[in-house]
Amino acid sequence: MLSGKHVVLGVTGGIAAYKACEVVSRLRKLHAEVDVIMTQNATRLVQPLTFETLSNRPVCVDTFARVESWDVKHISLAQKADIMVVAPATANLMAKLAHGIADDMLSTTLLATKAPILIAPAMNTGMWTAAATQQNLQTLISRGVKTVGPGSGFLACGDTGSGRMSEPVEIVEAIQSILCPKRDMEGLRVLVTAGPTVERIDPVRYLTNDSSGKMGYALAEAAHQRGAQVTLVSGPVHIAAPNGVEVVPVTSTASLYECMMERCEQQDIIIQAAAPADYRVEHIAEQKIKKQSGEPFVLTLVENPDVARAVGQRKQPGQVLVGFAAETQNVMCNAQDKLQKKNLDLMVANDVTAEGAGFGVDTNIVTLITRDGATPLPKMSKREVAEHILDKALTLRS
Ligand code: PMT
Repeated sequence: MLSGKHVVLGVTGGIAAYKACEVVSRLRKLHAEVDVIMTQNATRLVQPLTFETLSNRPVCVDTFARVESWDVKHISLAQKADIMVVAPATANLMAKLAHGIADDMLSTTLLATKAPILIAPAMNTGMWTAAATQQNLQTLISRGVKTVGPGSGFLACGDTGSGRMSEPVEIVEAIQSILCPKRDMEGLRVLVTAGPTVERIDPVRYLTNDSSGKMGYALAEAAHQRGAQVTLVSGPVHIAAPNGVEVVPVTSTASLYECMMERCEQQDIIIQAAAPADYRVEHIAEQKIKKQSGEPFVLTLVENPDVARAVGQRKQPGQVLVGFAAETQNVMCNAQDKLQKKNLDLMVANDVTAEGAGFGVDTNIVTLITRDGATPLPKMSKREVAEHILDKALTLRS
């Protein structure tokens, strides 16, 4: 419930503006007060009357419009807001926010507010991946602006890829977690592993896998927001580290092993979402390997240490150990087998062949397996999966 909370929702001129109506409706059902600010372009896609009816308040569009009460609207809204949310947030809005441009009602209010800001970006894939947008995003994140999404999928312009606005339910959950964060992990030390490992072949080649780190980073961020002291041991990835989390970079499975052996005994909860390589090259060539035309090229691989198993062998009293099982067949059997062999308390079974699950995507479909049974979860954002895993880990601790 969000009684007594005041949400100022900015709606910009992206086609996902129609989904913002559902955000308002959901917020009202949670008893939040909602003021909507629309950009001129947004009003071309959705009528202000729709938002007025859903929020029971006048919608602000024009900074200089005459209003029923005398106050400087962009300042009074900026001050009243417990949170400012922009959904959809276009590339243009992100650029203005990153550079302090205040040329309309929404951008002036955003610049004036001291409230937390949450943006739900929505745009074409090309615009989302453009260097300018990504740089603006990094600037905003470094200033504490929170983001939800974007997800991947079919876009209104006909393209398929990232840039799709998160669903209203996810946006409202993100708002709730900012306004009413759970603090049920205060005082706990949580270590999360994330991302792939890289096994060198020669100075220019390596073996790796498709892990993006998204699952592990979502876990680290969620645990931090719930009050835990979080260490994130991360293979090479291309996503920004969550604020307030200690990041320890690793490359190969051997370096992950070393790092974990140093730290595992001091943790209360360890969650191993990384995808470490099971094998490494026996002899890493010092120089670039030359092509031997016509000859088959044979690479000898040797087994890497099983890090999760080694952590399981050093399990401390009261400690909760969580692993992931990335499977393509016999998912439940294999996951249960790994739960036993690695001496874990919770195994997150991940069928990585299912659409919207596993490597690279923003969503996941998992089953939580403990020694007492299995709980299948529907497809949800990796952040939501993270919250379920943390809930289960806390239950196992008690
Ligand atoms: O990073 P994303 O793109 O978001 O993708 C998420 C994910 C698919 C990587 C993640 O959800 C996941 O399933 N991670 C586990 C990947 C994996 O290595 O699974 P596995 O079944 O091979 O290993 C089982 C467990 O042992 C894992 O906890 C793994 O971290 C660990 N392991 C594996 C091999 C090894 N040599 N040492 C290990 O510790």
